[in-house]
Amino acid sequence: MTQKKQILLNAFNMNCVGHINHGLWTHPRDESAAYNTIEHWTGIARTLERGLFDGLFIADIVGVYDVYQHNVDATLRESIQLPVNDPMLLISATAAVTRNLGFGVTVNLSYELPYLLARRFSTLDHLTRGRIGWNIVTGYLDSAARAMGLSAQIAHDERYDRADEYLEVLYKLWEGSWEDGAVRRDKQARVFTDPAKVHKVQHQGRYYQVDGYHLAEPSPQRTPVLFQAGASGRGQRFAGRHAECVFISPPSKEAARKSVQSLREQLVLAGRRPDDVKVFVGAAVVTAATDREAQEKHADYKRYASREAGLAHFAASTGVDYSQYDLDEPIRYGQTNAIESAARTAEQHGWTRRQLLELFELGGRYPAIVGTPGRVADELQSWIDEAGVDGFNLSRTVVPESYADFVDLVVPELQDRGVYKTAYAPGSLRQKIFNEGDRLPARHAAAEFRRLPSNSLVSA
Ligand SMILES: Cc1cc2nc3c(=O)[nH]c(=O)nc-3n(C[C@H](O)[C@H](O)[C@H](O)COP(=O)(O)O)c2cc1C
Repeated sequence: MTQKKQILLNAFNMNCVGHINHGLWTHPRDESAAYNTIEHWTGIARTLERGLFDGLFIADIVGVYDVYQHNVDATLRESIQLPVNDPMLLISATAAVTRNLGFGVTVNLSYELPYLLARRFSTLDHLTRGRIGWNIVTGYLDSAARAMGLSAQIAHDERYDRADEYLEVLYKLWEGSWEDGAVRRDKQARVFTDPAKVHKVQHQGRYYQVDGYHLAEPSPQRTPVLFQAGASGRGQRFAGRHAECVFISPPSKEAARKSVQSLREQLVLAGRRPDDVKVFVGAAVVTAATDREAQEKHADYKRYASREAGLAHFAASTGVDYSQYDLDEPIRYGQTNAIESAARTAEQHGWTRRQLLELFELGGRYPAIVGTPGRVADELQSWIDEAGVDGFNLSRTVVPESYADFVDLVVPELQDRGVYKTAYAPGSLRQKIFNEGDRLPARHAAAEFRRLPSNSLVSA
């Protein structure tokens, strides 16, 4: 009997109070205001590992949401991803209390030099024993560009051009600077590292110049598992070359199916296999033992959610200040330098401010799946079957109960159906997801920057 396709699960989170489902921090049982304590995060990590989640995925934003009403007042009042702490600094603590949970950390490459970022990821790959992933983002906020000394952000497609070169520099550092076997740790011979097996990276590019050795020794995965979320044509081309996991937030299963199909075509054009990428779709789940209880919980959550905060967040995503429009007035989009795919989706649907507010009933753009574990499992499976996605990026609603509900109720249901693991597979995050080893396969763009082994300079 062939095994049924196994659903992959990431918890979608952020080192802040309000992430996607805005306003729920005001719910009496919600603890997300404790985001700035270690215990909050170690508790979440333990719950996720109990539920055999593949990863804790931590979003991030550089800059603030100041498009709505042309100021940050709503953002600050409702805590819409502000204040926001550094996502990378959560990893050591959460890794220390888990053994198998993977971590996907978002870092915006537009404001970081590749040389230093390469070392930070190598460090985390060592400390997590190969459980680190990177969500590659290039930013979409002018407020971020201004804060970093630019007058406006770099144009949409050029951001991806820079990112292509940035990744090339990183591959040279991660994959090419230190050969396997370079580190000997030989006390008697007094050789820690064999000089013949460490190479200087010399990169003279259009955007970046590097003349130096990678600072870290090879880590279990070398290159972290590469996540990405670009949905525009240029974004998908970038994903086709680099990404191993892609996040999408489509308005329907049909839209998802098309997006997944064109993404997989991009992989083939880049010389990879269509299933070399795992696609995760965003979802919010509200579940309880009976349908009635689940509906009551949903109704209770809705009382605390903020639709307006959801709109203020979406305004920054699309670059449109919805506060300037009457409730039923058609919205003008035009060219955007923000998230192109979000703006085009809203434009195609002709959503008015009223419709967007209705859509954001749980404070955010992900439609909630509400019901018994059986009903939730049916819906998740239908996304897998009909849209061709591989898993889900579960946004948080009331924290930590929404994670605990999912782990205690939905996970056993999925396991009973044979579509979810009952134990973690051994190995690194990449090995767990793809079962092809710790390192990127030879057909990935990174492989061309690897070196053939050199002869040793010191006797063995
Ligand atoms: C599920 C999901 C998560 C995302 N997380 C982040 C994030 O944490 N930080 C960020 O700056 N952008 C984030 N983005 C935005 C993407 O990085 C990217 O800018 C966006 O999808 C637009 O790509 P496009 O212009 O190619 O459509 C996310 C997008 C999606 C769909």
